[in-house]
Amino acid sequence: MKKVILITGASRGIGAATARLAAARGYAVCVNYLKNRAAAEALVADIEATGGQAIALGADVAEEAQVVELFNSVDAQLGTLTALVNNAGILETQMRVDEMDAARLNRILVTNVTSCFLCAREAVRRMSTRHGGSGGAIVNVSSAAARLGSAGEYVDYAASKGAVDTLTIGLSREVAEEGIRVNAVRPGFIYTDIHASGGEPARVDRVKQFVPMKRGGQAGEVAHAILWLLSDEASYATGTFIDLAGGR
Ligand code: NAI
Repeated sequence: MKKVILITGASRGIGAATARLAAARGYAVCVNYLKNRAAAEALVADIEATGGQAIALGADVAEEAQVVELFNSVDAQLGTLTALVNNAGILETQMRVDEMDAARLNRILVTNVTSCFLCAREAVRRMSTRHGGSGGAIVNVSSAAARLGSAGEYVDYAASKGAVDTLTIGLSREVAEEGIRVNAVRPGFIYTDIHASGGEPARVDRVKQFVPMKRGGQAGEVAHAILWLLSDEASYATGTFIDLAGGR
């Protein structure tokens, strides 16, 4: 069966590393991006240059109508979806809970949680044997923050990832008999541009001393776990988590 994967927020960081690895493993890849079309198209060109198949599709996955259109475009351009990686996510400037306003909280929750539900819904409608599908696998990109809480930095972000963990458990049980596995990875401090959004581009180097391994992680180290969870090698794994946090 042809393997077709959609990775949300894949123009850079963990999503981009996952897209490259998925293409190398024989998936036809949809690189979803929010704004940076040029980066997404450059990634697609790279994948094609190494003999892979990929397309770039812009969509804000926090917006229901755009999610529906994104999945319909994947159907039309790549064929039946077999894998989804809910990777898109944001964090905002570091602050305490007693400083956060509702607008910020809602941005975090809609982008990090609602998007995962909407994309999972569209994936299940295509993959589930209940809907005439042939099965598939979903991996949610959660965070070690869901376990640790991110005190003084972004408890809102950590709580949104806690919701992603609960989605992973609940959905995995809901569709376990329908040919779909749902799992998650929980990265720790990974070298990507997300930390600049929190106001501290060099955050990983500051905090790596608190990691038992005494180093930050690379996006590719997360991508390998994602691809394993999606693969047939993980055929009995559902509703489970791989912590990629250097022992933290
Ligand atoms: P990143 O900022 O490079 O990637 C996130 C991507 O999501 C960006 O390309 C962004 O444009 C996209 N995005 C944001 N909102 C979107 C929307 N509404 N629609 C479509 N795309 C959207 O950061 P990174 O680190 O690669 O993050 C990937 C995932 O990994 C995120 O869910 C993040 O929370 C998670 N993570 C990252 C860790 C780290 O230390 N870098 C640690 C734990 C989890």
